[in-house]
Amino acid sequence: MAISYEKERRIIHLSINEEYSYYIHINKYNYLIHLYDGKYLSDISKERVSERYMERYSFLDINRSKNEEDYYETMDEDYYFSFLASQFECAPFMKGDKRGAHTIINNEIKDNIPITNFLYVSHEVIKGLPKDKNKNLPHVRFKDNEVETLIITLKEEYKDVILKLYYEVSEKYHCLVRYSKLVNNGEKEGIVVNKFSSMELDLNSCDYEILALKGTWSNDTEEERIPLNHSYTKISENHGARGFYYNSAVALIKNGTTLDNGEVYGFNILYSSDFAYEFKVDEIDQTRLTVSYNNETTEFFLNEKEELTSFETIQVFSCEGINKMSQIFHDLIRERVLGFSQNKDKYILVNSWEAYYFNFDTEKILKVIDKAKELNINLFVLDDGWFGHRNNDKSSLGDWFINKEKIDISRVVEYAKNKGMNVGLWVEPEMISPDSNLYKEHPEYALYPSFYEKPTLFRHQLVLDLTNDEVVERIFNDLTKVIDSLGISYVKWDFNRYLTETYSSHLPKEKRKETTYRFIMGTYKLLNKFTKRYPHILLESCAAGGGRFDLGLLYYSPQAWASDEMDISLRSGIQYSKNIFYPLRSIGAHVCERGSGSIQDKCCLAFFGTYGYELDILNISEEEKEKILFFNNLYQEFHDVIEYGDYYAIYNPYKCNYNAWNVVTKKKNLALVYFMIYRKEATKARFIKLKGLDKNKYYYNSLTNDIYKGDFYMNVGLNISAILTPYTSMMFVIKEIDAIKANIYRKTKQVDGGKRDKLV
Ligand code: DGJ
Repeated sequence: MAISYEKERRIIHLSINEEYSYYIHINKYNYLIHLYDGKYLSDISKERVSERYMERYSFLDINRSKNEEDYYETMDEDYYFSFLASQFECAPFMKGDKRGAHTIINNEIKDNIPITNFLYVSHEVIKGLPKDKNKNLPHVRFKDNEVETLIITLKEEYKDVILKLYYEVSEKYHCLVRYSKLVNNGEKEGIVVNKFSSMELDLNSCDYEILALKGTWSNDTEEERIPLNHSYTKISENHGARGFYYNSAVALIKNGTTLDNGEVYGFNILYSSDFAYEFKVDEIDQTRLTVSYNNETTEFFLNEKEELTSFETIQVFSCEGINKMSQIFHDLIRERVLGFSQNKDKYILVNSWEAYYFNFDTEKILKVIDKAKELNINLFVLDDGWFGHRNNDKSSLGDWFINKEKIDISRVVEYAKNKGMNVGLWVEPEMISPDSNLYKEHPEYALYPSFYEKPTLFRHQLVLDLTNDEVVERIFNDLTKVIDSLGISYVKWDFNRYLTETYSSHLPKEKRKETTYRFIMGTYKLLNKFTKRYPHILLESCAAGGGRFDLGLLYYSPQAWASDEMDISLRSGIQYSKNIFYPLRSIGAHVCERGSGSIQDKCCLAFFGTYGYELDILNISEEEKEKILFFNNLYQEFHDVIEYGDYYAIYNPYKCNYNAWNVVTKKKNLALVYFMIYRKEATKARFIKLKGLDKNKYYYNSLTNDIYKGDFYMNVGLNISAILTPYTSMMFVIKEIDAIKANIYRKTKQVDGGKRDKLV
């Protein structure tokens, strides 16, 4: 049982496969105390745990202020309860706790007093998912038999407002999924919600550093380590509906933890707008984390009887280092989060953008299709520039009709189909260009306050007001008209600016600070309708590269374009960072002309993502053609390993001069290895030690064309000293070999120190 309750001591225990425990105590003042979480504990002494708060903190004890007698009556197991120092599940605001509240609400009209103190009322444990789960929002698609749910109901002390905390515990997927629901039960004037968290986690030490993914356009995700200290640390986004500052995935790493050893907490949210991870270390070195809507840009107003459910946060714990955390995330996201397409074809695509930008016509595209066919590419994607009068980025967003003077897409689709190929299209549905028919017809569809004369343009465009259902409907209808007429197999859904002046005139005044949230709800509505209507279309999300690489979008699209950066040295770091939290099959990766690195280097790297090309294939050399054909064959043979295998980082490029990882099938019969070196190094002995193989199996490797046992690859490793050309990347295959054949081979053929013949 993943969730148990001990009535007498009022202790709830969430446990995962006897690996992880999370204990909550309902204390006698009805606060939810976070007693413990970490490696599995079959039982807990809450008295011992609370003693760490020490007598010196008990002066803030609730009853102490009354009289001495009462005070001594409290000398029981909850004696050490202290606002200042106890660990909470839902910390109050403006009581003795000053480490950052879970939720802050205020009835501004009645009394304008935001003191917020939620106290326990009841709880229930459910086999499966809660009945009231809102399945219209991005959520982890657990099946009922994969999860138990704890729901704790709390009530604010003086306001008629209910808060429910949800903990979905999945032993199958080794994780918790947490979220909250706020109900304005009886505050007639309505309440302002200044802060609303999906979850809180109080830890009893500050011996951690944060691992976050920071970035900018074209360097979308770079691992950043931030030590915890006694100031506030906020990992957040405030760009509205996309952002490069910080990705929404964060880990908290116990000091000393490595890729394969030590404790790590991992978090990721299913939300694509402004969020905040706030870390606060208190005066006795405990750490609080709240994961909430970013209240710098987002506030809510709830009318009486209105309710609000937060986004979901996935919480993962590993005591086997960062790789184990990655594997838990990868399995869960791959199987229960990613959107899917009914079309099971394996696509290798060629996209027009990097090769032609806006400069194409029908004849050119037909030639590209001919050449793609020759290269065993089976999907052609026409990127930006096919609609309205768009020949540069200054116009036409919102005008979703084909520019027939420029390109005959029906002919292109027909032509491709006759060759057994598929076609995909680029769209940017959440945007509007001031130079468009749509803007002329409906200027009020753009998102900015109606009295603003000069809303901020970015890439010459504005954002649509998707808080308005009429706009969602209009865009959906316009898109379906064109898509229905064509019969395409793939759509790239782009988003090339961030939100500014994010206040919708369409919303009632008191709800305007909800605009960031309501905008993204509009996007989700549009995506819901789109994916229901086109279940066979493979959707790839994109935002000026990887500016919206998050689980909210990946819930609808099984893959997202990782970055506009094409130089392998940067791109390999970007992929490394994304691999920490996202399954490789979700990471859009193509081989492109731009940026340093040979075609081969780029093929090796892109192979560990969705794989495809953005090359002018009409102008490639014979040698490049051979390479492309070679890799396309490899793709058909080996790409399943990338899509479904277990990922192990070997070298962290942010800590050393190499980048390397390997991916192993669940059966451990096949593995693919990626290796890259950056700067030139003096000659030294270097061995790359592989991970995750079966120590008793024999494997052939394509690097040295030798056969060794799994434990040899993992403990001694493969000698790569001789083949380190700086700024190159390589991949090689490790393949299980029948033990008898392996022994025969080893006896007759094996010559260590022999030929080094890497696969590619
Ligand atoms: C940004 C994307 O990252 C590119 O791949 C391309 O689709 C352009 N937008 C088109 O405008």
